[in-house]
Amino acid sequence: MSRPAAAAAAALLVILAAAGGAAAKTTIEPCASADSCAALLGYTLYADMKVSEVAALFGADPAALLAANALDFASPGSANRILPAGLPLRVPTRCACNDGVRKSVSVRYSARPADTLATVADVVFAGLASADQIRNANGLAEVDPDALLDAGETLVIPFPCVCFNSTDNNLPAVYLSYVVRVGDTVESIAASHATTVTDLSNVNAMGSPIVAPGDILAIPLPACASAFPNFASDYGLLVANGTYALTAGNCVECSCGPGDLNLYCTPASLAASCSSMQCPNSSLVLGNVTAQPTSGGCSVSSCSYAGLVNGTIATLLSSGLQATCPGPHQFPPLMEPSTAASHGSFLSPSPAPGPGEAGGAVPGSSDPGRSTSSAGSFSQAGLVQPLHRLIFILSLVFYLHM
Ligand SMILES: *[C@@H]1O[C@H](CO)[C@@H](O)[C@H](O)[C@H]1NC(C)=O
Ligand SMILES: *[C@@H]1O[C@H](CO)[C@@H](O)[C@H](O)[C@H]1NC(C)=O
Ligand SMILES: *[C@@H]1O[C@H](CO)[C@@H](O)[C@H](O)[C@H]1NC(C)=O
Ligand SMILES: *[C@@H]1O[C@H](CO)[C@@H](O)[C@H](O)[C@H]1NC(C)=O
Ligand SMILES: *[C@@H]1O[C@H](CO)[C@@H](O)[C@H](O)[C@H]1NC(C)=O
Repeated sequence: MSRPAAAAAAALLVILAAAGGAAAKTTIEPCASADSCAALLGYTLYADMKVSEVAALFGADPAALLAANALDFASPGSANRILPAGLPLRVPTRCACNDGVRKSVSVRYSARPADTLATVADVVFAGLASADQIRNANGLAEVDPDALLDAGETLVIPFPCVCFNSTDNNLPAVYLSYVVRVGDTVESIAASHATTVTDLSNVNAMGSPIVAPGDILAIPLPACASAFPNFASDYGLLVANGTYALTAGNCVECSCGPGDLNLYCTPASLAASCSSMQCPNSSLVLGNVTAQPTSGGCSVSSCSYAGLVNGTIATLLSSGLQATCPGPHQFPPLMEPSTAASHGSFLSPSPAPGPGEAGGAVPGSSDPGRSTSSAGSFSQAGLVQPLHRLIFILSLVFYLHM
């Protein structure tokens, strides 16, 4: 683990001092079923860190972390790449249902020399958990958040996590828990995440669209939903627009967008041994689409991924007539993180879609430096928010213990 860059840590502490005394809000979701669901944590790197180090902090797979950020995950040695301090990342996580509330599956952190509850909360985990929440999750006696922890002491770190049925306005969505930073407004957060102030206010049950640094907002991101049977071990796979997910033991990669929000899966190029990905009684391999113009329309056959069932990659062969033949499949472009990411930059896919044949290989990474391109602005029409959602949402107020 890299030591925190002193400057980065100091900058964060100033930011948090500015928020000192203010109430930090977070949105929680009541839940009943034991099902877990997929979500994302918005995490800003506090120091230059290797991909594998960030992944280890959250108990995530390095390739999955890269894929969730549309960063090149397939090239050899990608886990050892250094990501720059200040880079905002989306960390894939799963929310469990504990004591009637959605909570992130707990991550364990081993305290290092000079760590305190406050630095673990505010610096290492960038505000995703407060010192009080870490203290409570570990049943620690009331202690000063600035007291040194014993090096090697293992702490459970509770993260915010919401799924809201993996839908937003009845469309598939994956929810990002986002820590509000100095200078953010609800307008700027909405604009940089392709959503609207109205939607963010409804999702977070905000009386007025005002946020303070340290608040945690649930941000719905448009996503591609899977339709795997519920006995598949990757049932419920959900991929945010413009990104990738790895599944079936990293044998299969699935992507979403940019042109449409249909999940599209192909064999991944990173795994060692995978079961067959050929559709039975067909020459088509997972991800292959063939199109044949006929007098009655276009005859389309495809071999798609149907989930990991009993450790085996299930495939689904489908064919039918369509009015027009589909064009080549477009993949979300993969990016290289800029080495000079600033606190203000936002990681968003480049607007130019990469070319890609149906069933072809994922195109190579685009030019370095594109990662600072600003997100396009979008608006969602017809934001009629069902009232019942408000009933399901509770807003709890936590106090930053600074
Ligand atoms: C959750 O979504 C499913 C469809 O994906 C729908 O059938 C169900 O009614 C939704 N539940 C709630 C509580 O909105
Ligand atoms: C998905 O992302 C692409 C660019 O990355 C954008 O053009 C498209 O509008 C997005 N789709 C939705 C539904 O937000
Ligand atoms: C494959 O084709 C054979 C003979 O045409 C048929 O008996 C078998 O059920 C088919 N298998 C599948 C999985 O469709
Ligand atoms: C998975 O395997 C078990 C036995 O190994 C079997 O009973 C079950 O039907 C299988 N499930 C599916 C969906 O094939
Ligand atoms: C089918 O998919 C495989 C793997 O992605 C690819 O190598 C092959 O070229 C594709 N074939 C066709 C006909 O699209």
